Order: sequence, then structure tokens, then C-alpha cells
Amino acid sequence: MTKDMKDIVALCKRRGFIFPASDIYGGLNGFWDYGPLGTELKNNLRDRWWKDMVLCPPLGPDGAPVEIVGVDSSIIQNPKCWEASGHVGGFNDPMVDCKESKKRYRADHVVVYWPKDGQGSGVAFDKDAEDAEIEKRLKKLTNKALADFDTAKLDQIDTAKFANIIGPDVKTPGTLTEPRQFNMMFHTFVGATSGDENKAYLRPETCAGIFLNFKNVLDSSRTRVPFGIAQIGKAFRNEVTPRNFIFRSREFEQMELEWFCEESEVPMWFDFWVDQRTRFWDAVGIPKSALHFLDVPKDELAHYSARTIDVEYAFPFAAPGYDELEGIAHRGNFDLTQHQQFSGQKLDYFDQATNSRFLPHVIEPSTGLTRGVLALLCQAYTPDESRPSGVYMNFTPAMAPKKAAILPLTAKEDHVPLAQKLYLELREDFAVDLDIKQNIGKRYARQDEIGTPYCFTVDNDTLADHTVTVRDRNTMAQERIHMDKVADYLKEKMK
Ligand code: GAP
Repeated sequence: MTKDMKDIVALCKRRGFIFPASDIYGGLNGFWDYGPLGTELKNNLRDRWWKDMVLCPPLGPDGAPVEIVGVDSSIIQNPKCWEASGHVGGFNDPMVDCKESKKRYRADHVVVYWPKDGQGSGVAFDKDAEDAEIEKRLKKLTNKALADFDTAKLDQIDTAKFANIIGPDVKTPGTLTEPRQFNMMFHTFVGATSGDENKAYLRPETCAGIFLNFKNVLDSSRTRVPFGIAQIGKAFRNEVTPRNFIFRSREFEQMELEWFCEESEVPMWFDFWVDQRTRFWDAVGIPKSALHFLDVPKDELAHYSARTIDVEYAFPFAAPGYDELEGIAHRGNFDLTQHQQFSGQKLDYFDQATNSRFLPHVIEPSTGLTRGVLALLCQAYTPDESRPSGVYMNFTPAMAPKKAAILPLTAKEDHVPLAQKLYLELREDFAVDLDIKQNIGKRYARQDEIGTPYCFTVDNDTLADHTVTVRDRNTMAQERIHMDKVADYLKEKMK
């Protein structure tokens, strides 16, 4: 089944999941707002992660629950933090500008098609461009077919050859500048003056606040290695080319766990967390069959990482491939070592059992909350021509923004009070919708599109015997149950 990002983006706007930020001003590239339903969906995913990590963490390899505590650190930290973490010096993307179109590209995201016969110019495309589009443009610009070309990524091409490349959005060669390194951290100034001495950064990842508080947490709680510190919060990156809806944005949210352990136990805990994270995605509706696990090649690892597995999801824009949903990295003891050196504060851990001090190693499962929301939306999107809405959102009940809708069959006075009574009872425990207006078919269609798993309809039989119909979103099958049983029914389905 093909899913088209354009349809998913349109549904998100039409039904109030996600809007472009500053929509009435024409938007702002790389920034998004979450509407009423998107906020609920995001909160559901966030709360489930927090529950599975902090409130009710998994059982470890020895059968005892592992220990994880949470923090909520500042977005702006002392700028020395980002020197220590390597972000001031090294958080760079190679950026290329087009002098004619004024557009900016990441050099590693541009693919150049070189004629195999060496005659004529190379033609550049965005790495996600579709074959049909590539074929059409190549034919137009060079009168050659796709099979007549070899490809190379722009960041691997000698800049002397740039004069002979036609940029992605122009028709003549020689308009691309040489790649320049571009630091992706947003900066601001703290206090009234705006000199370099007041310069500070918006965090590009949430984990730094965890490392900065490692000693505070150890000193103030009873945690012992191995243990974890978790955090959920906003992160900011001035991405050169934000793209694919909320997949790569400039403001986003991360959910990160730093798991501190002894170096000798790294392989065991690494496998443990890959397994646990796979189970998590399955539980929220992303089956293992939709995931791909990429052992990141050594030369592509982040500067802090000794090993990383990218958990990739079959996002529609990546079809037939996958793109990153989560990274599980072995960060060594890079961060604690750096922060210890730059701050001059001892950050080592004292192990009472062995009477020794060491800097623990870190396994980091790090995922984008907002990117996870996109995966849930893409996975749930189910075209179905047999129903009036033409599509339904197949969220797991626990992730669905609305767990149920209460629908009086007609807006007649005797149906509405009973529906209202049921609604008031259920909303104490569940996110439910009371929808009174329009014919029942249109209301079912709306609930299908927002992914409400159950609709309870109050009709004339309800007046007689206090039963309501339950309509199942996926099967559209209906059954009758007693009004008093509705709360238990939903509770059972949410498990
Ligand atoms: N602390 C490690 C770290 O930040 P990362 O691979 O750069 O590693 C982790 O980011 C996760 O954060 C990614 O797997 C992705 O889900 C999310 N993420 C990163 N950049 C993002 C962006 N520009 N927009 C949305 N999500 C992003």
C-alpha cells in the first residue's frame, strides 16, 4: 500500500494535528505547531516513554527492575558546556549556496549525475528526488536518459569540478559555491548587552543537561551504577535544509536516556537497550517489521560515538528504504571526561563495593519525540476507499488522541442527555469526544480520520434498555453493550 506524504500532511492540517508555525504569516521554514489532536498524540507518546523509562522501567538481565531517574534541565546552559561537548567546534554541516536561485543545500544531501561519456555538465538533485522527476529533468537539460549517468555525492566531488555542475534549481552550470562549514547551534545573548562574552546557545540535544547534572543526581539520590538519567524536552538545530514535514525541523523535542554502566558491561547493556527500544516501538504501534537496524559504519559515527545502531523506520518519503527514528549510541565516557576537564570538577563515580573510582561509560537511546509522532502518523494512515472518509488513522488505542466518541444518534432531546451523562462519566478517565451535530455517517467519518478507535452511539434502544452501540474503527463492526459497561470496556481495550 502506498502512502503519500502530501496526503498525510493534508490530513494533519485538516483535522488539527499539525500546522505550519506562523501559518497566517506564511509559515517559517523548519518550525511547526501542534494542534488540538497533535498535542494529545504527542503527549501520549511522551507519557508512555516516561512511564516505560522512569516510572516503570524494564527488568534488567538479572530480572530486577533497572533504575532510572528523570531530570528537566535548562535549554540554555553555560556556553562552556558546548565547548566541552564538541558542539562549538564540531557541530557543523557542509553547506553549499546557489548564487542564482539563492537556495542553500547540504552538500551531503545533493547527488550529482555525471554523463558516462564525459560529454556535457553534471546535473545536481536533492538526494530524495524521485526517479521520474530525475529522468524528466535530465532529458530536458542534456537529452540523455537516466541510464547514461553515473552518480556521486556533492560533498565527495572535487570543488574544481563545480563549474561544470548544474545546481538542483537552475538550468546553467557554475552557480554552486564551495562547501562551507556551518554551525547548526542557534545562539542568543544573555543579559542586556550583546557582545561575544554574553553569547549563549540553545541546546542542540537534551543529553548535555543530563551529563551536567550527573554529580548532582549522584549526590542527592541513592542511585548506584548501573543506572540511567532520562530527559524529555525541546532541542534546536539550525538545519540547513529542514525537510519532510516534522522529520527534520529546526525546533523539535527529544526523549533521551543516558545509561551509566561499567565499561566491561557495555556490550550487554547495548544489546539490552536495542531490544527494549524495539519493544517500546512495537507497543506504541510501530512493529519490528516496519523497522530497520543500521549498524552505523565507523567513518559515519558522531564524534562522541564508539558504536551506534540507528533504528530506522519505513517513512513514506524514504520508500523503498528507511530513515532514522532513534539512535542508540555507545558514547564511551567522552562526555563525563570532557565536562570534568572543562569544568575542573571531579565527576568520577565511587564504587563502594570495589573501593575504586571511575568514569562510567554511557549507552544512549535517543529519539525524537516529534519524529516519533511522525512515525505514528505515517504508520496509522490507512487509505480505505470503502468508507466515506476514504482513510482512517489506525492508532493503537493507547496512542489515539481520542479514545472514544460519544454520539447521540440524533440531536433530539431524549438522546442528548444520555450521551452527555456517558460523556461526563468517561472523561474522568479517558480522552473522549462528545459530538452531537451532523448525520451519524459524517461523524463516523470524522472519527475515522482522527483515529478514534471506538464510537458509542446513543439511540432509541438506549432509552428502553440502556444499551449503546459500539462501533470498532478498523472493522466498522457494531455490537451493543450496556452503558454501565462502557468504562470497563474501554479500560480493557487500552491495556
Ligand atoms: N544526543 C544524541 C543525539 O542528539 P541525534 O542522532 O543527533 O543524537 C537523536 O538525534 C534523535 O533526535 C534522532 O534520532 C531524531 O529522532 C531526533 N532528531 C535529531 N535531529 C532532528 C531534527 N532536526 N528534527 C527532528 N528530530 C530530530
